[in-house]
Amino acid sequence: MLRWWARIDGKAGYYTGMVSHIAKPLAGPVLGVETSCDETGVAVFDTARGLLAHTLYSQIRMHADYGGVVPELASRDHVRKLLPLVRETLARAGIGVRELAGVAYTAGPGLVGALLVGAAAARALAWALEVPAIGVHHMEGHLLAPMLEADPPQPPFVALLVSGGHSMLVEVAAIGRYRLLGDTLDDAAGEAFDKTAKLMGLPYPGGPALAALAGTGRPGAFRFARPMTDRPGLDFSFSGLKTQVLLAWQASDRSEQTRADIARAFEEAIVETLAIKCRRALAATGARSLIVAGGVGANRNLRAALAEAGQREGFRVAFPRLEFCTDNGAMIAYAGALRLAAGQRQDTEIEVRPRWPLEELPPLAAAAASA
Ligand code: KG4
Ligand code: ZN
Repeated sequence: MLRWWARIDGKAGYYTGMVSHIAKPLAGPVLGVETSCDETGVAVFDTARGLLAHTLYSQIRMHADYGGVVPELASRDHVRKLLPLVRETLARAGIGVRELAGVAYTAGPGLVGALLVGAAAARALAWALEVPAIGVHHMEGHLLAPMLEADPPQPPFVALLVSGGHSMLVEVAAIGRYRLLGDTLDDAAGEAFDKTAKLMGLPYPGGPALAALAGTGRPGAFRFARPMTDRPGLDFSFSGLKTQVLLAWQASDRSEQTRADIARAFEEAIVETLAIKCRRALAATGARSLIVAGGVGANRNLRAALAEAGQREGFRVAFPRLEFCTDNGAMIAYAGALRLAAGQRQDTEIEVRPRWPLEELPPLAAAAASA
């Protein structure tokens, strides 16, 4: 299968991983740039001093008029916001641009135009400063976000990555050694939240709005299936659930209370389905720790259900703080700093991968060993 990828020079071809070569390990502040979708995120992370600063600009209000992300508008807005945010983040970190030891940017997966804005700016900055750069996998960023918290979990663990574009269960043997245990066959969990919210008339982005509405729903008023939990396996499918909601909504009185009742039943179905699969993944791998990340990881009922299951069944559950569940620059600065510290580098080509399997990433330890 030919994997599609883009380079600024227009050349295309096979590509098996973003790491171009291995060099001497790097220490010092690393700038992280996230522009894969509708959030411009910038941060500075130093492996010795921790997270020094982070800033975020969300385009949500601009896309809300269209009911979803408009890729061309997203790219243009990243162009407008990125450099001012870089200046502000460096000022907050209390460092000058020349003190940066490296630059990390999201190289995929994501919207190609949006990715290219961050990649071009970050790569140009690294070239001008004569410091190394690294392209970061967006989902590795999410996966490592819990590591920014105190007392971070150590691999091996299972990661539940639930965002607007992905629903994955991943076995993490070590940082950079990822095995996909389960994936979505159709809609991602966040996408299911967003589409379900939209069909009941809630504004974009629907996930947080639907979750807030669920809080006033009455328990037991509706009940939806827990998709694919009645058979073995760790894959997900959420599009049938969306159809169930549509049918229930169309047949209902469409009152505010009914909307809240349906939202509650929908959220319960997603949360329980995710919790069942997480417990199965832990049993299948023998891991005793679960990390949960990505935008849907901000869902309070999901966090509570998994924390409770962990207490009951004796496994540890770790989450990022709420603001690092959704897209942010801190997770990219962190993941990039780790890979740069392990001696991994990008050459000067500007390349992004809108599709990029997580399993193709090189392990961190092997890179360090061969540095
Ligand atoms: O990770 P993220 O910011 O972007 C992607 O990489 O996709 O995730 C965004 C997704 C959206 O689908 C949004 O509706 C969902 O996360 N989301 C939530 C909540 N907060 C964000 N879904 C359910 N409950 C929430 N509290
Ligand atoms: Zn994301």
